[in-house]
Amino acid sequence: MTTPHSPALMQQLPDLPVAYISNIAEFDQKRVQIRGWLYNRRSKGKLHFLQVRDGSGIIQAVMFKGDVSEETFAIADHLTQETSIIVTGTVKKDERAAAGYELSCDGLHVVAAAAADYPISPKEHGVAFLMDHRHLWLRSRRQHAILKVRARIVKSIRDFFDNGGYLLVDTPIFTPNACEGTSTLFETDYHGQKAYLSQSGQLYSEATAMAFGKVYTFGPTFRAEKSKTRRHLTEFWMVEPEAAYLGLDGVMDLAEDLLCTICADVLRDCPTELDTIDSIRSEAEEHRQLKPRREALALVQKPFPRVDYGSAIAQLQSLGSDIPFGDDLGGDDETILTQKYDTPIFVTRYPAEVKAFYMKRDPGDPVRSLSVDCLAPEGYGEIIGGGQREDDHDTLVAGIRKHDLPMSSFDWYLDLRKYGSVPHGGFGLGLERTVAWVCGLPHVRETIPFARLMDRLRP
Ligand code: 4AD
Ligand code: MG
Repeated sequence: MTTPHSPALMQQLPDLPVAYISNIAEFDQKRVQIRGWLYNRRSKGKLHFLQVRDGSGIIQAVMFKGDVSEETFAIADHLTQETSIIVTGTVKKDERAAAGYELSCDGLHVVAAAAADYPISPKEHGVAFLMDHRHLWLRSRRQHAILKVRARIVKSIRDFFDNGGYLLVDTPIFTPNACEGTSTLFETDYHGQKAYLSQSGQLYSEATAMAFGKVYTFGPTFRAEKSKTRRHLTEFWMVEPEAAYLGLDGVMDLAEDLLCTICADVLRDCPTELDTIDSIRSEAEEHRQLKPRREALALVQKPFPRVDYGSAIAQLQSLGSDIPFGDDLGGDDETILTQKYDTPIFVTRYPAEVKAFYMKRDPGDPVRSLSVDCLAPEGYGEIIGGGQREDDHDTLVAGIRKHDLPMSSFDWYLDLRKYGSVPHGGFGLGLERTVAWVCGLPHVRETIPFARLMDRLRP
């Protein structure tokens, strides 16, 4: 088999500039080569229409029988989907083409013929089948667009914090202690000691915030979620800013600015991707009648409504829900609450009982905590959780006891309250839930290259 690195192939390669489809406009009227794969093919009489993708985009290469050797024309007639190819030709403007350009093809090199049974055809496949073939599914237009939006959101987040004076300080993945409750811990053997995969970098970020003032950590986090829902992964990415002297209102202001920045960046830089995602929706998705994503993102402007937990419960009850004061909100409650808004909303000051041990009690009402969840519209629910942290040593000790957590794992964390404790706060934004909302996807499994779910570890 000929590989791209074999001397034989390198000798045959055309001596022409390599054009990337994303930059094709720079090569208008020029002869170039495009190195990629055959996405699709159609033939009509003396013409082959080759849809070629190179990772940066898709372009149609039109091969006219008279422009190539008979042998080349015959080879093109038998190319299988996903065969790796190099095509040469002249770039021509074409208003009708999705890329705005076409390639008037004058040469074709087959790098490696793909087996004829490429499993992903243009017809609709079941989700389980597609997830089993995720390593190939990633080549499809919609998946390609989603992951480009994801990458844009990651850049947006990094730029937002880097430019805002937040220092990136990475936190460990192996940890001796639980941050978000003991029921979703992944346990592992760490040279004879018990260790857990990090559920959140927060506790460490509190330490780094006391060292650097404003910090963020951005990495994979792990939760042994035992529920199969459209919002839960067992491995997901979270960005967690934390700042000294930041109170609950400051936490909300920061989250609001971040979300507005993300939406504006995606809207400006990924319109084509958003339209591609909108244009390829399954029947089930169409039934949800989401707004076109460009329209939805343009509506995300501050200020976002800030709803006290008590008034959220009252609203739910007035709409017929039997949720009592004191309960955490479920997914359905979140959907109902956000229905009348186009922007995300903040629900503030949840009962301390339903939140983690580190949440600061509300000094005005000790039943409540200085916590906040940010709920995305259109049924997407919680995308951010955060708040102000308990900064009093003894209250924190009582919280750790109350949650039945082993005090010995938290000795270092308690030091932060012993040596120069200050009011501080932060939040965690789930990247995949944010991507799902921005792209209008029915499930988080499409927002990450290789999803890890309760029942999926492969590919
Ligand atoms: O609300 P959570 O559990 O908050 C924390 O972990 C805090 N320690 C963060 C902080 O204040 N630094 O999780 C934060 C966000 C959720 O709002 C959600 O977007 C996402 O993380 N998330 C998940 N995303 C996908 N799959 C899961 N299983 C998730 N669990 C949480
Ligand atoms: Mg939460």
